[in-house]
Amino acid sequence: MMSAEQTVNRLQLGRETREVEETAAALVLRPRRLRRLDNLRRLVRETRLSADDLVYPLFVVHGQGIREEIDSMPGSYHWSLDLLPAEAEEVAGLGIPGVILFGIPAVKDAIGSENFDDQGIVQKAIRTIKKTVPELAVITDVCMCQYTDHGHCGIVEDGRVLNDETLEVLARVAVSHAAAGADVVAPSAMMDGQVAAIRSALDAAGFTQVAILSYAAKYASAFYGPFREAAESTPQFGDRQGYQMDPANAREALREVALDIEEGTDMVMVKPALAYLDIIRQVREAFDYPLAAFSVSGEYAMVKAAAQRGWIDEKRVTLELLTAIKRAGADVILTYFAKDAARWLRE
Ligand code: PBG
Ligand code: ZN
Repeated sequence: MMSAEQTVNRLQLGRETREVEETAAALVLRPRRLRRLDNLRRLVRETRLSADDLVYPLFVVHGQGIREEIDSMPGSYHWSLDLLPAEAEEVAGLGIPGVILFGIPAVKDAIGSENFDDQGIVQKAIRTIKKTVPELAVITDVCMCQYTDHGHCGIVEDGRVLNDETLEVLARVAVSHAAAGADVVAPSAMMDGQVAAIRSALDAAGFTQVAILSYAAKYASAFYGPFREAAESTPQFGDRQGYQMDPANAREALREVALDIEEGTDMVMVKPALAYLDIIRQVREAFDYPLAAFSVSGEYAMVKAAAQRGWIDEKRVTLELLTAIKRAGADVILTYFAKDAARWLRE
């Protein structure tokens, strides 16, 4: 038996020395054979995107009758609680297993008080969804930036974002989400020790069954732009480079993931997704933990904007991107395209 390498060598030799017809006859390796029929392509397909992989982000706001489209994220809305049940039912009906909630509070202050208020917008939204579609997995984003008047992800003192003081607040937020019925809490503040602080607070409060999805490798990315408009969470001074990761670093992502696993996270996340497929792949290979990737607002906005101009085919580009994220190694994809993708995958 000839090895593939020997075969290739012989064919290359042949190409130089023989007639074109003879070369064609000797061409044994023809990958195109399996691309000839759709059903053959289906049989050898390595990555299968499914609605099962997706989590849909929802922005919730106080008020009544609000379904307001976000300018920079066409097709994404701010929802008031009276309209939320129908939306949650639609998501579940499309076969999407979970949602992640982002809240816009009534008032912002220095410590983000509404964040851990039992009557806060996210706490109410959790109860609303769990009453309507109890089987829908409810994940909550645990951070301070949407709730603070300065827009940073932690407690600020003299222009600095304090780490350890912030942990207490994050733990309090997580416990309050758990008390409202959240299934999974997802700390995204990039404070050191946030997973350990949250795990021990949840356990102490009796919420041992509530899981943690840590934003383990979250980069200081310009791709969050549209989200910050949607969540009104742009920092009022400076930026987030003092706590979110430097986009130039890959090995550091592995250390971040290792730390979160040591601290007791149940799932880890890489964020953003599109410009960080190499990180997703490396984390997948280094750790045997469920891995999520957040395809963020800027990724969504780019596709939407180009599609609106007719420059790209929205459906094909979206499914290609989501497949790539899964192919890179993500088990779970958080995406604003979740509903569209679930629909397209059914067609
Ligand atoms: C909160 C948070 C952000 C996102 C998720 N959680 C914004 C940020 O860190 O600035 C970004 C999501 C997106 O852009 O879609 N810290
Ligand atoms: Zn934040």
